[in-house]
This record gives sequence, C-alpha cells and structure tokens, in this order.
Amino acid sequence: MSTEQQIQVSPSRRNGQRQFFRLNEIIAEQTAANRSLIAILQAVQEEYRYLPEEVLTYIATALNLSPATVFGVATFFAQFSLEPKGRHLVTICDGTACHVKGSMSAYDAICRKYDLKEGQLTTPDMLFTLETVACVGACGLAPVMIVNGKTHGQINPEAAVAIVDKLREEEEK
Ligand code: FES
Repeated sequence: MSTEQQIQVSPSRRNGQRQFFRLNEIIAEQTAANRSLIAILQAVQEEYRYLPEEVLTYIATALNLSPATVFGVATFFAQFSLEPKGRHLVTICDGTACHVKGSMSAYDAICRKYDLKEGQLTTPDMLFTLETVACVGACGLAPVMIVNGKTHGQINPEAAVAIVDKLREEEEK
C-alpha cells in the first residue's frame, strides 16, 4: 500500500490497549479524515513529541500495515524522530549560506556548553534537543538559528549559547 493512500482502521483493533487510548483517538480522527500514513505519524508525533517504537508497532497493527512499512516511513523522513526530544527544539541551519558564515561554530559552542555530542543531542534533563537542518529559506539572515519555531538571524557562538541559556533561566523561574 502506498503511504499516501487512504488508510482504513480496523474497528476491532481500535478497541485495544488502554494505555494507547489517546493514540487510538488520533488514529480514528486521522483515518476518518482520510489522512495518509505520513499525516497520521505527524499527528502522533505532535502528541508524543517523538515516535516510540511500541507506538509505531501499534500503528502498524491498527492500520493493518506491516511494521516494516510504518518504520520505513518513520525513518525515511527527517521530520520524524524515534528518540525522545527535549521540551525545546534548538535548530542550527547548516545550509550553504549559513555554513559559510559559521553556523556550525554556534552549534559547536552549544555542544560544548551543554556537553552534547553526536548521538546525545538532548540534554539529560530533557530541556532541549539540538539539531541541524538544511536551508530554511532565510539566507539573508545567515547564520540562522531557530528556537521553537522562532528564527534568530546573524547569530554567533556567544549569542547562540545566550539564547539557550535564556531557555534554561525561563524554565527555572
Ligand atoms: S542556508 Fe541557512 S537559511 Fe538558507
């Protein structure tokens, strides 16, 4: 089945495990609206902030799809995360314009300050997750950093760290 095809939920499977009550609701809402698997995964990720393995397995069962199909879509698109993310999302643009203007030095500065590294880009207290993205279409502001959807232009390492520090201060209030 194409992932963009409409998907029908088997009612008998929707009545499943109690801990997936909200998940069942999302699947029911999305399928009632004839949404695709991608749209369903987006809605589920919005709820859980990531796509836990057991949730993907459950979705596959509910939609009568193979787990490989659901995991395949979840791992193919960069927008989906199979790992828990922090409360705040800090994104450094690593598109060409931003890279040339030193965006990765801001990324490195945040990593140093918060002891993050490849494979561990969420702080242990789940305060934030650091990630990179290709061009976000704001090259005139390069280098660009996006925090919870808000764009910060012409950042440097100090400014980038200060923005993240402020997140922590606000959380501690
Ligand atoms: S390269 Fe960063 S906004 Fe275009």
